[in-house]
Amino acid sequence: MAHPSSPSPSEFRPSVRVGALGVSEILQIGARAAEMKRQGGNIIILGAGEPDFDTPEPIKAAAAQAMRRGDTKYTALDGTPALKAAIAAKFQRDNGLTYETSEITVSTGAKQVLFNALMATLDPGDEVIIPTPYWVSYLDIVQILGGVPVLVPCREENGFRLDPQDLEKAITAKTRWIILNSPSNPSGAAYSAEQYRPVLDVLLRHPQVWIMADDMYEHILYDGMTFASPAQVEPALKSRTLTVNGVSKAYAMTGWRIGYAGGPTALIKAMAVVQSQTTSCPSSISQAAALEALNGDQSVLAERCRSFQERRDMVVSGLNAIPGLTCQTPEGAFYTFANCAGVIGKTTPDGAVITDDREFCNYLLAAVGVAVVPGSAFGLAPYFRISYATSMAELRDALARISRAVAALS
Ligand SMILES: Cc1ncc(COP(=O)(O)O)c(C=O)c1O
Repeated sequence: MAHPSSPSPSEFRPSVRVGALGVSEILQIGARAAEMKRQGGNIIILGAGEPDFDTPEPIKAAAAQAMRRGDTKYTALDGTPALKAAIAAKFQRDNGLTYETSEITVSTGAKQVLFNALMATLDPGDEVIIPTPYWVSYLDIVQILGGVPVLVPCREENGFRLDPQDLEKAITAKTRWIILNSPSNPSGAAYSAEQYRPVLDVLLRHPQVWIMADDMYEHILYDGMTFASPAQVEPALKSRTLTVNGVSKAYAMTGWRIGYAGGPTALIKAMAVVQSQTTSCPSSISQAAALEALNGDQSVLAERCRSFQERRDMVVSGLNAIPGLTCQTPEGAFYTFANCAGVIGKTTPDGAVITDDREFCNYLLAAVGVAVVPGSAFGLAPYFRISYATSMAELRDALARISRAVAALS
């Protein structure tokens, strides 16, 4: 492939693959908001994809003990035997899924799990079905690897879930994977076992398609809904499903960087080959911490989920009280994905027209100092995502500001 520009030999030049990606819009908005804050601005940032809670003390204590014990060396390539056993036990306990330890992998975050799996399987031109709105990394990872993302919109009328007919139409002989994410980042939509059924029935008919089940937000699920994982709902798909999960969101451990997955041994082995040439193994200390997270007291999960639900309820009702905005009630995760079609075409006090959701988000940041992410960054417009993983007081303030900003439009 020819490089688009011809810089001088000494000039930095990214690879064609990476140069084509550009900087994530979420990071750009976050950086702009952080800069405004540094300069003394009263800014509320509702963009972060991480819980505001701290990692529970027993988990930190397990990490400290691991260090003192001398667990400070490389570990087995794709996870310590103890952590793999704890993950197998977790899959059995929470999901009714039986995985041998040879079917388990541990990586530096679920993001690395996804990267390893796609790197190990995609050849140029292979297609990956990504329902929209999507977590941005799915698209970027597929593109970095020379795969072809096939986007299938999940419409609001369908609760931001896949329509099985749309899925059927998107599948071709070149489809290698579909990525399913329930509860979803960014929409918060989740599938019950019954809601997964028609989607999985389509996949049963297409044996070339493997299923990446991103269950990252499993434990943040509301109103008593029972979590469902694809291989559990349809055991016939288990031999071509990678069930991905991690400790980042459930146990407020985003910085520890531990993600894991269960899947067929051949895939798990191929993923280990990739990992062996990137990170060699996940952090030994973080693995000891994750072991305590999975084996220790689980009551923290329900407590934190209750707290997230309280925030969800306030944000959803607050948004729906603002004329021009509407927001469905998400089933899980800690995001709302509100529709802002009612403000498109309106004019700001400065005379600018809000042409799309990006402009609406720019306006919110400039006018009232609230940083949120446009739906178009996740492949579906016109929406905006709020991460409500912050205090009730800050959320109340943010809602009042958004309401003020919308009321000022004409
Ligand atoms: C849907 C989804 N999957 C996976 C991840 C990756 O999590 P981590 O790499 O921290 O394990 C995230 C993080 O934002 C996410 O939102």
